[in-house]
Amino acid sequence: MVSAGGRRLLGADHSGVALATAQAKYPHVPTEKHSLQDLPYQGEFDGVMCVDAMEFGFTGRLALGVGSLSARSDSGGWLYLTVELGPEDRVSEVNREARKLRFPVVDGEWVEPDGFYHHYPSMDAVRAWVGEAEFVIYEEAEGPWHEEEYSYHHVLAHL
Ligand SMILES: C[S@@+](CC[C@H](N)C(=O)[O-])C[C@H]1O[C@@H](n2cnc3c(N)ncnc32)[C@H](O)[C@@H]1O
Repeated sequence: MVSAGGRRLLGADHSGVALATAQAKYPHVPTEKHSLQDLPYQGEFDGVMCVDAMEFGFTGRLALGVGSLSARSDSGGWLYLTVELGPEDRVSEVNREARKLRFPVVDGEWVEPDGFYHHYPSMDAVRAWVGEAEFVIYEEAEGPWHEEEYSYHHVLAHL
């Protein structure tokens, strides 16, 4: 959609496989291999989009800080991000179990002994991180729930 709207794009991911998939699908879009924790951009982009990625690490707060550095404030500094939501009671239960197993989890972290990991921060925490990164929320909306297991909260913010 963004490309069809005439915008130039640059895709970043820390997985070479994910980048190869993206390149096969959108050969005209350049990609670079970086982790969210280590993006090298400084004020280069009119907007930053982080889609379905924040839940894979306790990187949300950092990613928003890096996003604010990557975005150009003189052209609005837009940030669009998705926050995955899980069923609150089940997230708390799994989080408690992980603490019992002495995993050093923070609130909202879902860790299982087989290595499955997701982070479901509360939207209040995400809103606080957005503010700390000096973004102002412009619009947000919760998407549909998939079989009562997960949903995505969409946040549009600007510097
Ligand atoms: C569910 S996929 C979503 C991919 C793409 N954003 C999309 O919407 O189709 C999650 C992606 O996040 C990437 N990812 C997870 N943690 C990351 C991190 N710390 N830094 C960079 N990429 C990360 C994974 O490699 C994976 O490709």
